[in-house]
Amino acid sequence: MLSQLSLQDVSSAVTHAVNYLLSLSESYPYLSYAGGAVFVAIVTRWLAERRRNPRGLPYPPGPRGLPFIGAYYEIPEKRPWAVYKEWSKKHGDLIFYKAMGQNYLIVQSIRRANDLFEKRSAIYSDRPPQPMAVDLMGWSFNMGWQPYGSWWRRHRKAFHEHFNANAIEKYDPIQTKALHCFLNKLLRQPAGFGDHIQNLFAAIIMKTVYGITISNDNNDPWMRNIMEALQSLGSVGIPGLYLVDHIPILKYIPSWFPGAEFKREAERGLKITTRLVVEPYEAVKESLRKGAAEPSVVAALISDLPPENHPIRAEEEQIAANIGAVSYVAGADTSGTILLTCFLGLAMNMDAQKKAQAEIDACVGPTRLPNASDRPSLLDL
Ligand code: HEM
Repeated sequence: MLSQLSLQDVSSAVTHAVNYLLSLSESYPYLSYAGGAVFVAIVTRWLAERRRNPRGLPYPPGPRGLPFIGAYYEIPEKRPWAVYKEWSKKHGDLIFYKAMGQNYLIVQSIRRANDLFEKRSAIYSDRPPQPMAVDLMGWSFNMGWQPYGSWWRRHRKAFHEHFNANAIEKYDPIQTKALHCFLNKLLRQPAGFGDHIQNLFAAIIMKTVYGITISNDNNDPWMRNIMEALQSLGSVGIPGLYLVDHIPILKYIPSWFPGAEFKREAERGLKITTRLVVEPYEAVKESLRKGAAEPSVVAALISDLPPENHPIRAEEEQIAANIGAVSYVAGADTSGTILLTCFLGLAMNMDAQKKAQAEIDACVGPTRLPNASDRPSLLDL
């Protein structure tokens, strides 16, 4: 492998290659340019590999793929989690592969994830560049994908002020109201439970984050924005699927260029992402101007902004808008998926259902619904 070559091997290969290219350049100039470009790419890759792994230590096992492109064609386009599970049966719970010169590590167990991301978070908290999603489609607002550094820290600080253990109590009334509405719909139309769940979390987050009340069905324009954004993200969220993620310079190709469908896809995505970040933020600003804004995370962030002419005002505004959007995209679908999984678990396990019901009955009796203050008494739930 490239990383196992010594500096001496490489310098002798460089001398031979340069001599050969010079001898070619007289009779076949274009061929020698192309050869030169390939050669520079190989040396650059070798240097990058040496920087990443100077002692040439072995990587964990995983699909090896083909020379130069690595496992690029094995990166799953659909249901990546199922493919990773299959790979883990063969390779274990740390799976490593290379694709187009980039290194990927799939962490396939909670124990490994804790070891790396909790216990050693000081060295594993950075994020790799994602040209397609972040640079081209505008997902740079998502602090989950921002590189470790002061921009990310400023986002986290703003987020944490409104989503820490003490702050979240004040959102209980919003959650309780949305929950009662959800239970009512579930009782009247149980078959639509999937839609009701989607609407429940959309309603909670839009109200908490923007003070916006969404309509009771899934046709709400704010909800359409988020669904569109998540759909446009689609497979872009799968690390390494797009060639531009491996060769970032491709992001400068103009979108009219033949074969640059990814650029046209990215342009469509960027419009959706911009709408997602800007529209609700502007709506809150407008309500604040009219004195009609409901209390919300974004309203509080806007109220705390430095004065208009302050040098960091524009950046702080961007952070406030980003925090709103990331809370929505990170919180609505994830929470909905957990509740859907909970429904599945309960439907497949009648004993657990009966046990949970008995515990609730013992705690609150038959006349009222449980609320957040009952949580300490509901030990098994
Ligand atoms: C059951 C529900 C949820 C699940 C399973 C979940 C899962 C996750 C996971 C796995 C990450 C790490 C992503 C990464 O590092 O690439 C993450 C990050 C994040 N989540 Fe959640 N989440 C949930 C609910 C929420 C809610 C309700 C919010 C907001 C109100 C939220 C906001 C965030 C944010 C802002 C980040 C990025 C944090 C950072 O990188 O500093 N999540 N979530």
